[in-house]
Amino acid sequence: MRHLLDTRSLSRVDALRILDVAEDMADTQRREVKKLPTLRGKTVVNLFFEDSTRTRISFEAAAKRLSADVINFSAKGSSVSKGESLQDTAQTLQAMGADAVVIRHGASGAPRTLATSGWITAGVVNAGDGTHEHPTQALLDAFTIRKRTYGEDSRGRDLAGLHVTIVGDILHSRVARSNVWLLHTLGARVTLVGPPTLIPQDVSAWPARVDYDLDAAIAERPDALMMLRIQLERMNAAYFPTEREYARAWGLDAARLAALPPDSIVMHPGPMNRGLEISAAAADSPRSTVLEQVTNGVSVRMAALYLLLSGERTDEEKEDAR
Ligand code: CP
Repeated sequence: MRHLLDTRSLSRVDALRILDVAEDMADTQRREVKKLPTLRGKTVVNLFFEDSTRTRISFEAAAKRLSADVINFSAKGSSVSKGESLQDTAQTLQAMGADAVVIRHGASGAPRTLATSGWITAGVVNAGDGTHEHPTQALLDAFTIRKRTYGEDSRGRDLAGLHVTIVGDILHSRVARSNVWLLHTLGARVTLVGPPTLIPQDVSAWPARVDYDLDAAIAERPDALMMLRIQLERMNAAYFPTEREYARAWGLDAARLAALPPDSIVMHPGPMNRGLEISAAAADSPRSTVLEQVTNGVSVRMAALYLLLSGERTDEEKEDAR
C-alpha cells in the first residue's frame, strides 16, 4: 500500500486485508508480545496541524510496537507559526529520514496534496483532514463492529446484513464520511440521523439513508448506534439548535439507551461531549465500545503502518501495474 488517504477508494479486498492484518496485530498484543521487529530501521513522522489525543498517541504506540522510530511534530510551537508552508515542513521532515508521514490537517485534501505533489517520497496516512475523511477511524470502527458481531476469529468476514446508524453532526464529520463509504463497501446498511441543518446538502449522493427522528431510528433496531461529537468549534449559531434542544431531540439519554435492542452496541469516536450527544449512562454502559475502539485503534494503525512500509501492494495497485 503506497498511501492511505480515504476509504472511498478502498476496495473490499483491501479493506478486509487491513482488518485481517489488524486481527493478527491484536493477537500479538493479547499474547503480550510488547514489540515486533517488523519496522526496525523505519521512521514514522506524526505531523499534526490540529489537536488530537487518540489518533496521535495510537499512531505513536502502533509505530513503536512495530519497532519503528517516531518523530512527533505538532504545528503549535513549530515554525508553522512563523509562516512555514506545508511543503517546506514536510520536506524538512523527509530530510530527517521519514519513511511514512501520518498527517492531520484542518484543510480537506492536505494529505492527498502531500502524497501526490512529489514534495516527498514517504508514504502518507490521512489522520483526519478538514471535513473530508478519517480513514483509520472508520477502519477501527469496522474492526470493532466485526469483532463484537463475530467474536475473536472474524477474519475474512465483511459486515453484510448489519445496520449501522450514525447520529449527530454529519455536516462537519470526517468520521461519518469515512464510515459511510467503508460500511457500504463492507456490505452494511447505513442510516444517518441528525437535525436537518447538520446534514450535508450533497447527502443524496452518499450510499446512506437519512432520517431526522432518533426515536424512529432506534425503533428500527440498529446493530450499532454511532454517536458523533457535536463540533462546537466549527459551529455557526445559524444552523445549530440550542444545546438543550439538541440533547433532547438527538442525545442518547438513558431512556433511548433502554429502547435499544439488548445486543446493539453504542459507539463514539471521541472526544465525547457528555450530556450533549451522549449521556454518562450510555457512554459508560456495558454496551458502549468507546474504550474498545481506542484499543482496537492501535491494532488497526499497526496494520496500516505495516502494509504501508512493507511494500505490499493493494488490489488497486496490482490492477494499475497490469
Ligand atoms: N477520534 C479521534 O480522532 O480522536 P482525536 O481527535 O483525539 O484523535
